[in-house]
Amino acid sequence: MTIPESKTLKSKTPKLKTPKVVVLTGAGISAESGLKTFRDNNGLWEDHRVEDVATPEAFAQNPALVYRFYNLRREGLLDAEPNAAHLALKDLEHALGHSFLLITQNVDNLHEKAGSRQLHHMHGELTKARCTHCHQVFKWQQNLDETDHCPACNSQGSLRPHIVWFGEMPLFMDEIYQALSQCELFIAIGTSGNVYPAAGFFDLARQNGAKTVELNLEPSLNASAFNEGLYGPATQVAPDYVQRLINTLSPSYC
Ligand code: OAD
Repeated sequence: MTIPESKTLKSKTPKLKTPKVVVLTGAGISAESGLKTFRDNNGLWEDHRVEDVATPEAFAQNPALVYRFYNLRREGLLDAEPNAAHLALKDLEHALGHSFLLITQNVDNLHEKAGSRQLHHMHGELTKARCTHCHQVFKWQQNLDETDHCPACNSQGSLRPHIVWFGEMPLFMDEIYQALSQCELFIAIGTSGNVYPAAGFFDLARQNGAKTVELNLEPSLNASAFNEGLYGPATQVAPDYVQRLINTLSPSYC
């Protein structure tokens, strides 16, 4: 009996399992690039209480303060460079292609500077502004204040930082929940697990059967519920972990 060619080919080709990997990053991944985390400074963020600069109420009461606060954060990005942990995630995306999604809580642009492309900024981006009249979002690299006009509808004073403030809905939630429902490996890097919904992502991934791994300077609030935890500075722990992960992949992914 002759074996049909399709079967012969099939038996010679090892079955490739496409890994589906979701990575969630927080402020800790950018700490070694010189950007402050949120909770390493007695609850103050760059000398401000979060309620004074990161809520819609704060913006309504004192827009000048909020504009100035984010203008300074945006200026701080000019000199900030991605570190080895950001670069490792760019390499992982390159290795995994469309089986990879990066979700970041960070509003900095260091993942983009490192070369990551498949990412969602769930808490917004410092380098964008949004019009509260026409709701369009614009690239915004310069200072922003109430004298600026919306490039689309020309309203004056309607632009705000494209940042998700406390009490507002994070961005890309449909895409994120979809990815979590399909992922096989969930990796959290540099996040304290204080702020929901992001702090609950590992649990959703785990309920859907994914392995969960935490890479952080110290165990996070949810550390004991992860399958694995590796602790140390992100620039050391993340490149090591990512390299080991890439080494386990089929050469066709690399
Ligand atoms: P946090 O400041 O809460 O936590 C930073 C985490 O990074 C902590 O667990 C640190 O131990 C860890 N860390 C610090 N340096 C590190 C390093 N070199 N390497 C690895 N880990 C390090 O920041 P997030 O968890 O990102 O939300 O905070 C989540 C959200 O809370 C933010 O996105 C922001 C904030 O309020 C909004 O603005 C909506």
